Amino acid sequence: MDLVEGSSVVITGAASGIGEGLARECVNRGLRVALADVEKAPLDALVDQLLAVGGTVTAGVVDVSDGPAVSAFAARVEAEFGCVDVVVANAGVIGPRRPLWEQSAQDWEWIIGVNLLGVSNTWAPFVPNMVERGTGHLVATSSIAGLAPAMSGNAPYATTKHGIVGMAEALRMDLAEVAPDIGVTVLFPGPVRTRIREAVRNRPDSLGGPDGVAAFSSDPQFDVESIEPRDVALHLLAALARGDRYVMPNSEYVESTATHLVEVAEGLRTPNTADPTR
Ligand code: NAI
Repeated sequence: MDLVEGSSVVITGAASGIGEGLARECVNRGLRVALADVEKAPLDALVDQLLAVGGTVTAGVVDVSDGPAVSAFAARVEAEFGCVDVVVANAGVIGPRRPLWEQSAQDWEWIIGVNLLGVSNTWAPFVPNMVERGTGHLVATSSIAGLAPAMSGNAPYATTKHGIVGMAEALRMDLAEVAPDIGVTVLFPGPVRTRIREAVRNRPDSLGGPDGVAAFSSDPQFDVESIEPRDVALHLLAALARGDRYVMPNSEYVESTATHLVEVAEGLRTPNTADPTR
């Protein structure tokens, strides 16, 4: 997808971290941005900063797990911008770190709602106009945990991040039948210096609220290996320009992830798979 001055990009989870870094880089390049997030104060502050440097910006306080709310935001953005070129479903959360058998039903519901349904809620309302035009690009932020085991204690998160990969492949097949030039790209960050570990700050009261829940404690090596949100933005924008389907900005994770995927493939090729009677 060729992004030129005036092209428009929708970003969810835009008030912090990777979304914020992407919004800043897009404005630097003269792109128009539409930003959605549940956190009003940092979103307003970011919009003010981007407007002050001459950006074309619109924004909305939107919970991506709320389909009708995202659709209303999408309708407003399309009315304001005329057309949307790229949609980045980036909002995501991680819950308290504990083994699968101790995960609460509320955390499963919260994380699936934001990380998985939030992606389809974000993509779906923009697709019909893209199909009509025959162009556009849909992006979602998965994780290295969406392709290979990353660390213990995050079953709901890993499940949703794997789910994004399946959703993207399914969408690509759907689009191939009606608008094959529309791109679909999945972003697989490794550790990035953001507020993701404090994601429970946004757990809604209806699902237990933010209080009394420890922030996610990740492994110490992740701190050492963390890259900056701007690095992720640069990788993603370069990948969009090339039309890449998969982007892994943390290069040190590429080989270990590929090794895991090869192990899966080798598992499928065992003799027992070829002949179940042996
Ligand atoms: P962050 O916490 O700094 O930013 C996430 C943003 O999403 C926040 O502004 C938050 O208010 C917003 N958000 C949370 N729930 C929302 C909802 N229901 N609706 C709309 N917005 C909501 O974290 P970060 O790291 O920038 O996260 C962005 C994406 O990157 C997530 O999908 C995350 O899973 C993914 N990721 C992050 C990694 C990291 O090491 N930071 C590694 C791999 C993936």
